[in-house]
Amino acid sequence: MKNVLCNLLKDYLTGVNIDEIENLLEIPPKNELGDYSFPCFSLAKKLRKSPNIIAEGLKQDLEKSLDKTLIEKVDTAGGYLNFFINKEYYINKVLNDALDDDYGKSDIGTGKTICIDYSSPNIAKNFHVGHLRTTIIGNSLYKIYSKQGYNVVRINHLGDWGTQFGKLILAYKNWSSKELVEKDGIAELLRIYIMFHDEAERNPNLMEEARAWFVKMESKDKEALELWKWFYDISIIEFDRIYKLLDVDFDYYTGESFYIDKLQAVVCELEEKNLLVQSQGAKIVDLDKYCMPPCLITKSDGSSIYAVRDIATILYRKNTFDFDKCIYVTGMEQMLYFSQVFKVIELMGYGFYNNLIHISYGLVNLEGAKLSTRSGNIVYAEDILNEAIKRASLTIKEKNLSLVDKEEVAKSVGVGAIIFNDLINTMIKSVDFTWDRVLNYNGATGPYVQYTCARAKSILRKSNIKIDDINFNAKNLKDASSYELIKLISQYPDVINESANKYEPHFIAKFALLLSQTFNKFYHECSIINSDDEVKNSRLILTYITQKIISDAMNLLGIKCPEEM
Ligand code: ARG
Repeated sequence: MKNVLCNLLKDYLTGVNIDEIENLLEIPPKNELGDYSFPCFSLAKKLRKSPNIIAEGLKQDLEKSLDKTLIEKVDTAGGYLNFFINKEYYINKVLNDALDDDYGKSDIGTGKTICIDYSSPNIAKNFHVGHLRTTIIGNSLYKIYSKQGYNVVRINHLGDWGTQFGKLILAYKNWSSKELVEKDGIAELLRIYIMFHDEAERNPNLMEEARAWFVKMESKDKEALELWKWFYDISIIEFDRIYKLLDVDFDYYTGESFYIDKLQAVVCELEEKNLLVQSQGAKIVDLDKYCMPPCLITKSDGSSIYAVRDIATILYRKNTFDFDKCIYVTGMEQMLYFSQVFKVIELMGYGFYNNLIHISYGLVNLEGAKLSTRSGNIVYAEDILNEAIKRASLTIKEKNLSLVDKEEVAKSVGVGAIIFNDLINTMIKSVDFTWDRVLNYNGATGPYVQYTCARAKSILRKSNIKIDDINFNAKNLKDASSYELIKLISQYPDVINESANKYEPHFIAKFALLLSQTFNKFYHECSIINSDDEVKNSRLILTYITQKIISDAMNLLGIKCPEEM
């Protein structure tokens, strides 16, 4: 529809290009103002006329040859040109588009690659709620860009290298055993890691010994590497359990250790490009000019650090995948860090530094969520997910539902509730978490959207009608609540693009919620099954499309919609 309007307007707006027109076209906040409106304010300067006069002029021009089967009328209101689309034309257009299986897909990304670096937990440490957020956001971005036709490379940049492993090896040798680690996994590794720090306060020699173990790792010492690999395998087993719950996958588990043989070349390159400065035995890139602290490249004992591994990673990814964009999803606390790393890439002379994008999210506030923690106060994402599934399963029992696959539904609802709560907020906002709110079937929640979708599916099942065998008649869908639903359906492709452009799955979550609320209103106001055939069929098709789009939108968030719940 937007295209149709853009082409109409273009003929009367010389000097304004079609993209500009498209960007300006908006959907008015109130139905009385029409279906689309075109604000003339930003054109005033270019066309040397007031917005009111531009709008009025366009109205007169368009009215001369208005195709009433397309546009019922145009009108102006304070610098806006408002379009009232012919309802039947509009309904036919939107519903026929939406019936297509490819509705919402685009080819914006065809032939282009996006790398997404997300999840990226740290070996031997707990997978915490922050990691849950990056996993959820990254997975959703992957689905959104895939829908736009991009080739998306999903990378889990595991924190699997660094001085902390020297500490861990030492701690293991001093205070743990094979049995304990095998029994408690990451919880045990974390226990001795914390213990190391306590002990090292009393006995500073421990720090030196730990550093020595890391140097051994970097020089490929057999014992050191064997222990490291064992900690790695144990951690991956736990991480994979979480990925399975979330139904998240990766193309590569290339963590920091993958780049160790590529670091020397980076240091040499930085050296050659005269970017390295000695500072107290360490090597740094001075970023004072850019109002940032220096980027540390190697330590005084020669061991590598996080930043140089990331620089090597970027060069490797560019060479290997030739990405159009490389996106990083981490907590806000790494904002400065990524600005530093990207600056170094720029200083190295790589023009693609502009295509490195760090998106960061706010904290997860667990205050309202009582959780039994495995040890101390450490919260494991896996425990949250399992608790959500348990609670969802209790609700299902309470409702005494005769579901075929109760377990699968409880999983979709529990996990879906957590994901939805995360994505319904804009990324930068911190997420408040209370069980009652997250799992409430009547709130702005995942379960509410899933329930609405299941209700629509059940209406279709009960109707005993095959969608392919029936037709709709636009005449029967002109009432206010059907029309509101149809208008919303028409926005789905734009919502996907907006989410993609702004790196914000939030817009899709908000859309899924609004679509559900609007459907419930329609369902309340329009009787479906008890109407006469023509009306019934039209409403069934609208119901069919709505549930299809809710499922599709939820799928873009990484949430499954059960058939029944
Ligand atoms: N492992 C890091 C953490 O847990 C996140 C890594 C993000 N990705 C990167 N390429 N640095 O905070």
